[in-house]
Amino acid sequence: MRRQINTWPRRADKLLRSVSPWSPRPPTVVTVVGARPQFVKLAPLSRALRRGLREVLVHTGQHYDHEMSDAFFSELALPAPDRHLGVGSGPHGAMTGRMLEALEAVLVAEAPDMVVVVGDTNSTLAGALAAAKLGLPVAHVEAGLRSFDLRMPEEINRRLTDHLSQLLLCPTPTGVRNLAREGIRRGVHRVGDVMADAVRNWLPRARRRPWAVEGIAPGAYYLATVHRQENVDDPERLGGLLRALSALRHPTLLPLHPRTAQRLEAHGLKPGGLVHLLPPQPYLEMLRLQAEARAVLTDSGGMQKEAYLLGTPCITLRETTEWVETLRGGANRLAGADPRRIARAVAAVEGKRPRWDPRRTYGDGHAAERIAKLIAAAARRRR
Ligand code: UD1
Repeated sequence: MRRQINTWPRRADKLLRSVSPWSPRPPTVVTVVGARPQFVKLAPLSRALRRGLREVLVHTGQHYDHEMSDAFFSELALPAPDRHLGVGSGPHGAMTGRMLEALEAVLVAEAPDMVVVVGDTNSTLAGALAAAKLGLPVAHVEAGLRSFDLRMPEEINRRLTDHLSQLLLCPTPTGVRNLAREGIRRGVHRVGDVMADAVRNWLPRARRRPWAVEGIAPGAYYLATVHRQENVDDPERLGGLLRALSALRHPTLLPLHPRTAQRLEAHGLKPGGLVHLLPPQPYLEMLRLQAEARAVLTDSGGMQKEAYLLGTPCITLRETTEWVETLRGGANRLAGADPRRIARAVAAVEGKRPRWDPRRTYGDGHAAERIAKLIAAAARRRR
């Protein structure tokens, strides 16, 4: 009985749409995500989009372990995916191909007014390519970032996605300039960074959490992560990184990405010294751990930015960064994977703690609202 009452207005709405030349239904956007950092970025965005648009949330299934995926959906109060493609892992081509095929079917069925992709993962590229092949407009959140290193799968994904997009939503002026250099000027907007929105929203809650690391006090440790293909697939490089972390004079918390855990096991590598291995951490815990760390050592793009926003010095375990703004004033230092360079960078931030003002560089914490307005306007223009 209850079911009948609930479904009637929806049926009436559908009937009305089929006979009416004007549509009371809000425009539909399909958002495509699949990997851990994308869930964080989508959380503020999805909330803003759903205020005026119908969002169909598609999870490609690139990340599938509970702590890499579901834990983020529940902690960030993300709506459950409307479609889960369950593609899982594999070589880049096979993974992207499976996504492309499954996404095409979803896009044909939903006929959205716009497809929204985020960041630089294989899920980003698959979403943009599937949409472009069907003639659907694409909005790219985090457009214009470049490491200028085409050996990185993420750099390939970023470039191709930007060149397939109609709405290019850049977090910084650097992004706008990078696009202009590649001849992309139309549809480009500087909107701020959705990760700054997420930090603004969730930091107070993260700080209220009880301290969860036994035997190590806040402020008495380094926080490290490594997961990039270039760092973990080569046993020598990964071994060098472990030696560098093992030589640090304070305890180092090292939450392990599944890729890194697999490589450590495959190469028979183990950290020594004061390194504590942890499982992948939930978002709020990670924010808290970054906020209280002496320094963050990472190859993650998102963590470079989060450390910057939280006022924690960062040492980037790569040769390049897309987040060049964080390098100013020594807030972030590039140290690659060489143990001596890493030791020097740690000594530098411990010797004279860098100071910087994290406000404004990545926006005012309202990027998601700006993005939602631009997407809504573009989607309505298509009707
Ligand atoms: C991907 C993104 C990277 C992003 C990172 C965040 C690409 C090219 N790379 O890299 O930009 O910074 O996500 O985490 O899209 N695995 C599991 N369980 C999972 C997920 C992955 O065991 O839930 C394993 C896979 O089996 C695979 C490895 O981890 O062997 C790598 O996963 P993959 O999604 O290919 O790339 P990431 O390294 O996570």
